[in-house]
Amino acid sequence: MDSFIINGGKPLEGEICISGAKNAVLPIMAATIIKSARYKIHNVPNLKDTRTMISLLEESGAKVKFDKNILFINTESCNNPLAPYKLVKTMRASFYMLGPFMSRFNTATVSLPGGCAWGPRPVDFHIKALKEMGANIVLKDGNIICNGKLKGGLIEFNKKSVGATGNIIMAAARAQEPTEILNAACEPEIVDLCNFVELMGINIEGIGTNHLTIYPNNDDISEIKHFVIPDRIEAGTFMIAALMTKGDVTISNVNPNHLEIVIKKLREAGAIIDIEESSIRVIYNGKINPVDIETKEYPGYPTDLQAQWMSLMTLSNGSSNIIENIYKDRFTHISELIRFGAEISFENNQAIIKGIKNLIPAPVMSTDIRASASLILAALTADGESSISRIYHIDRGYEDIELKIKKIGGAIKRINS
Ligand code: UD1
Repeated sequence: MDSFIINGGKPLEGEICISGAKNAVLPIMAATIIKSARYKIHNVPNLKDTRTMISLLEESGAKVKFDKNILFINTESCNNPLAPYKLVKTMRASFYMLGPFMSRFNTATVSLPGGCAWGPRPVDFHIKALKEMGANIVLKDGNIICNGKLKGGLIEFNKKSVGATGNIIMAAARAQEPTEILNAACEPEIVDLCNFVELMGINIEGIGTNHLTIYPNNDDISEIKHFVIPDRIEAGTFMIAALMTKGDVTISNVNPNHLEIVIKKLREAGAIIDIEESSIRVIYNGKINPVDIETKEYPGYPTDLQAQWMSLMTLSNGSSNIIENIYKDRFTHISELIRFGAEISFENNQAIIKGIKNLIPAPVMSTDIRASASLILAALTADGESSISRIYHIDRGYEDIELKIKKIGGAIKRINS
């Protein structure tokens, strides 16, 4: 199992290019099932999760080639609407296969994902909505077995869910009637999925809002090209790293509009931020102020940047609060950050972080993708050698992370222990 050894204490300085968004490309890859065609998708990050999604597509009969961040997917020979446990258990986003399978084949067998490091992560919204659209669903041998020609209709989610919104958009793409979704998620990754689905001739009204109407379309298509949006979570991680290491980092290939709340919070924390059309420069300006955050659906502060913000706040010149509203148990990084000397307490879904002057190096263990990122940030500031084990989590979501960190002056190396 690989680990990182990090020699911290140096400011990160320089420029790095942000990869395509993992959470956008995964549903887009699943969406290629909807219509039999050839797809060319650019700006695809080479990650463990994208490779798992390739395996899922191949399992269903698709032909896939992945070459230098370009994915060539041919779904003409797809004939097996099955997402098996061996793949679903390694990546919950495999559940995105359900909507596209129903759209194209009117049947799907998708393994039910389990919980994860942040506690239970139910899929009840996906199932309820598909039933309301006319699907017949049973659970057998740990699999969701879904059948029926979907009618469409009105779906109202109790809570905004990125995954359920994406799945229902894809399920609705070839239904008999339009589907209206109320209380839909409007994350940039959902917008990217909508734009991709529209290329297949399916009109979607209300893109970027919480009220979507999907007008199905069954016309044949042959070839589709798409460029995936930049990864706002990877970008936010490096922006936080710039301030936390007292550095000066420019990140390019980003969409600053997707990062408004992060830019606002970093400015409150004392960073100087210069914004260009597709790049952002973050400069440390002598202090890290304590700044509270509360995670919310987009355009609120993203839960996927909560752990990294907590890491930053451990070095602030005061006390700050973090409230986690999306995944109330998403605090596995706290006990590892405390190993670096951080002073953090928490109760229910609220953490209080008392800023200290310096973190001290430590051996720590990563528990999920974003928690791992928070530990890397902490290690980069701690003066001396830290090690981070179980970094397979980080390889699921951050492309070439050690190359990018090295490029801006961080001393990080991967070892196989
Ligand atoms: C996606 C992201 C993940 C991010 C999360 C929230 C991908 C691949 N993953 O996950 O990185 O942290 O959005 O921005 O894009 N819920 C239910 N029942 C359901 C579905 C969701 O109760 O059927 C709840 C969840 O427990 C959670 C909330 O709804 O409290 C939001 O979850 P959701 O937006 O669905 O997260 P994911 O799509 O799984």
